Amino acid sequence: MPRQLLVTSALPYANGHIHLGHLVEYLQTDMWVRFQKLRGNRCIYVCADDTHGTAIMIRARQEGRSEVEVIADMQAAHERDFADFGIAFDNYGSTNSEENRTLCHAIWKSIRAAGLVTEREIEQLYDPEAKTFLADRFVKGTCPKCNSPNQYGDNCDKCGSTYSPTELINPQSTLSGAAPVMKKAVHEFIVLEKLRPFLTEWSQNSGALQPEIANYLAGHFLGDALRDWDVSRPAPYFGFEIPDSPGNYWYVWFDAPIGYMASTQQWCDRNGSQLNDWWKNTNCEVHHFIGKDITYFHTLFWPGMLKTAGYSLPTKVHIHGFLTVDGEKMSKSKGTFVMARTYLNHLDPSYLRYYYATKLTSGVGDLDLSLEEFTNKFNSDIVGKVVNLASRSAKFVEQTGLAKTYPDDGGLFANAAAAGAEIADAYEACDFSRAMRTIMALADAANPFVEENKPWELKKDPAQAERLQQVCTIALNLFRQLAIYLAPVLPKLAEQTGELLNDPIQNWDQSQTPLLGTKVNKFKHMTTRVEPEKLTAMIEESKVEAPAATPTWDDSPEPFAAEPLAPECTIDDFTKVDLRVARVVEAKAVPEANKLVQLTLSLGGEHRRNVFAGIKAAYKPEDLVGRLVICVANLAPRKMKFGLSEGMVVASGPGGAEVYVLSPDEGAKPGQRVH
Ligand code: 2FM
Ligand code: ZN
Repeated sequence: MPRQLLVTSALPYANGHIHLGHLVEYLQTDMWVRFQKLRGNRCIYVCADDTHGTAIMIRARQEGRSEVEVIADMQAAHERDFADFGIAFDNYGSTNSEENRTLCHAIWKSIRAAGLVTEREIEQLYDPEAKTFLADRFVKGTCPKCNSPNQYGDNCDKCGSTYSPTELINPQSTLSGAAPVMKKAVHEFIVLEKLRPFLTEWSQNSGALQPEIANYLAGHFLGDALRDWDVSRPAPYFGFEIPDSPGNYWYVWFDAPIGYMASTQQWCDRNGSQLNDWWKNTNCEVHHFIGKDITYFHTLFWPGMLKTAGYSLPTKVHIHGFLTVDGEKMSKSKGTFVMARTYLNHLDPSYLRYYYATKLTSGVGDLDLSLEEFTNKFNSDIVGKVVNLASRSAKFVEQTGLAKTYPDDGGLFANAAAAGAEIADAYEACDFSRAMRTIMALADAANPFVEENKPWELKKDPAQAERLQQVCTIALNLFRQLAIYLAPVLPKLAEQTGELLNDPIQNWDQSQTPLLGTKVNKFKHMTTRVEPEKLTAMIEESKVEAPAATPTWDDSPEPFAAEPLAPECTIDDFTKVDLRVARVVEAKAVPEANKLVQLTLSLGGEHRRNVFAGIKAAYKPEDLVGRLVICVANLAPRKMKFGLSEGMVVASGPGGAEVYVLSPDEGAKPGQRVH
């Protein structure tokens, strides 16, 4: 009986492009789905862009576009990248769809009806200029523990302490620079604690989770009361408004997983199917593929929501680790943070599909992309051991086609057919690495047959024509068997094989019987070797100049506090003061005065001013001569003990030795007005 399976990958955020790290998951899922389909199972693969939330709202504001425009562009880019890597979704939707809105309403209603919603007023930082509440990462300030400036609202990267953004010294909104204020708002919470017995049972005993994940949940969350989950955000927020909580929107993580169902709904509408046939059907398996960073959402919140709303629980949540490159985190400056599109500019997607397949296991460990191994593996395995079987035999049977009966091959085909069950088990268990090893062992067994029987030699002797056809029939059948086993990973190769031998590859069982008597088409080049220069070019294109270390300033709040801001003035008030650039042409200390220096300022041409400035403790008169300063030129003259002061030189500082005379930048000319 064919199985029925609904398969998903995590919905990529609409605020960034797809990179090689994301592709681990999409390729893994695509291979698994292709395997299921090849086995004859009824399987659909749905996904969507994850579009809601603050990040998109902010990006749209910054770009001066609507959120809908921003997400439409990103979705088109995502879909292009996926298609070019051969990732074949049955439906690719968006969380910002009417199908999703309808499902969110229905699921929310069930959660409310189950008595799982509670409301609480919470106080949060609010940006009064940008008119929005601020998530922790949108607030910066000085660390309350170690005083390091420029730290984010939740933790300090200098001393590692964690705190709430309200504890920051001088917090600033990264959106507007305004000082955030505390503002209260009512939020909707889901009381997860009520679901703890169910979540414990499901996570520990259903078999849906990898053992390390089940243990992690038991050890970190399920042993204590679960905290209520805050599922609403006050306006403005890009998302769906909660119908019975006007002015509040569902938090992005509430509607994102519902997007799996909304995407299924779209597929159903196009294919005459019903949502409940996939999501409320005990005969349908639901498989989620996700990265370990979003475990919590998919193993606690999401099953809790599904259970409460009466939908199927995930049959399996397949969790994978992160991608490292040459053993390190992907790095923009080293060029190892490679975007999907940059890869495609240089290399064939088959290389990455095969490489990831050789690395993927059913565990949650990280996957390393070793650049050297990436080059060697494909060349030696696929070019050297698989395609090789066809390229050295197909051309000799273009005239005759395959033999009508399968010749004696010493058990090679039968042996490889028998290995099909083990390969299928490995695929099923997501242990693609084991599947690839088993397949390559079969390739290793097949190659000596061609080397020993040398079709290129047989070709030279017309008396060997029949033997030549036999040898090539064997070689091409062994090749085809491998292409079938590799079809989930290398769909293009499977397609080319189908074309070459006039028999499309559509089912796993085709690997169990030799293909006989078909026409053989002209052999066309099937793949090329990975060229190390192209890999280097891809890395070069990915290199982003490391931004200069962000300078940090430890500006103290004291000067401002010591001299609070003056009452507001108008621009007219300001223009009453005529500030001019002036050059100090003469400077001498006033012997009788502790603080004063007598300056002769030139405002250009004949315009001279005599000014007494209280800067004696901070400047030597001779250092001032020749310098440009700023002078208040229309200040009423003031009669002093030592003479008439005809203006003022502007300076900052509390006085004494701490006085700082202002100077214009290079190029300013005496007499110019300061606006
Ligand atoms: O972590 C992420 O990139 C999320 N956009 C994944 C969402 S998966 C699902 F729940 F929608
Ligand atoms: Zn700190």
